[in-house]
Amino acid sequence: MDDEHLFGGVWTRTKLDALEKYLAAFNTALSKQNFKRIYIDAFAGSGWCDITEGSQKTRIDGSARRALNVSPPFNTHYLIELAQKKLAALRAMKAEYPGKSIEIIHGDANIELKRLCKKYSWHDERAVLFLDPYGMKVEWETLKAVAGTHAIDVWYLFPYSAYYRQAAKDANAMDSGKQEAITRLLGTEEWRQVFYVPKRQPDLFDANSGDEREAGHSEMLDFVSGRLREIFPAVLEPKILYQGGDSRNPHGAPLFALYFAASNPKPAAYKLAKKIAKDVLDAL
Ligand SMILES: C[S@@+](CC[C@H](N)C(=O)[O-])C[C@H]1O[C@@H](n2cnc3c(N)ncnc32)[C@H](O)[C@@H]1O
Repeated sequence: MDDEHLFGGVWTRTKLDALEKYLAAFNTALSKQNFKRIYIDAFAGSGWCDITEGSQKTRIDGSARRALNVSPPFNTHYLIELAQKKLAALRAMKAEYPGKSIEIIHGDANIELKRLCKKYSWHDERAVLFLDPYGMKVEWETLKAVAGTHAIDVWYLFPYSAYYRQAAKDANAMDSGKQEAITRLLGTEEWRQVFYVPKRQPDLFDANSGDEREAGHSEMLDFVSGRLREIFPAVLEPKILYQGGDSRNPHGAPLFALYFAASNPKPAAYKLAKKIAKDVLDAL
C-alpha cells in the first residue's frame, strides 16, 4: 500500500507551484536574519511526481526537489518517507546535490515530525513544513507539536474528499475505525455532535434508526479551519483543489483543501508569513 505509485492531476501542479513560491519568498524574507532555515517534507515521495493533465502524462519535479532547487537555499532539508521505493529514489536524488545538507528519514511522519520538533530549541531556527499525505494520515497530536515550536510555517494539503467520505451521511455506515480516524485527524470527538442529528424521517419499522449528517462539506471544512485556529496563531482560508479543469476554472469533485498556517505567535512574524502565503494562494 505505502509503495503504491499514484498519478497526480491538475491539483498536484497547483500545490507544488504554491509551495515553491512560498519557499522562495520565505528564504528571501529571512535571508537578512541569522536564522537557520530548515525545510521539512513529512511525506516526501520520490523527488518527482507523475501527473495526468487531460490525456497528457507528464513527470514534474516533486516537493523535495523543488525545495532543494529554491533560491536563496535552505540550510538543511529533512525528508521523511515510509516507502522503500521512494526512499531509494530520494537517496539517488540526494547524490545529485552533494553540497546540500539533506537528511532522509525512514519512518512514519507522525513519529518523526514529533522527534524533529523536539530536536531543536527553535530560538535560532525557522522552518517550512510540507504535509502532503495520502489520505487522513496527519494526526492532530502531530500538528500540536508543530504549532508548539512557534517557529514552523505549515502548508497542509488537507484530504478534503477522504474526510467527507469517511464521515458518511448515514451515521450507521461509519464503523468505529472510521470514527477513530476522524477523531485522530481533528483531535476531538466533538465533530460527532456538530455534524450529526437524529434522522428526521426515521425508518418506518424502526423509530430510532440513528443519526444522519446534517453538516455539508463546506461546514465540515469550516470545522477544520476552526480547529487549526485553536492551535496556530494564523491560518488562511484554504484553497480548494478540484479533480479537473484548472485553478481558475475548476470542475469535478473538490479533492483537497490547501491550508497555510503559521506557528510563530509574534504578530510581526505571522503577519508577514500570512501576507506572503495569501499572495501565493490568491495568484493560483
Ligand atoms: C502524496 S505523496 C507525496 C508527494 C510529494 N510531496 C511530492 O511532491 O513529490 C505521499 C507520500 O507519503 C508517503 N507516506 C505514506 N504514509 C506515510 C507515513 N505514515 N509517513 C511518511 N510517509 C508516508 C507515501 O509513500 C508517499 O510517497
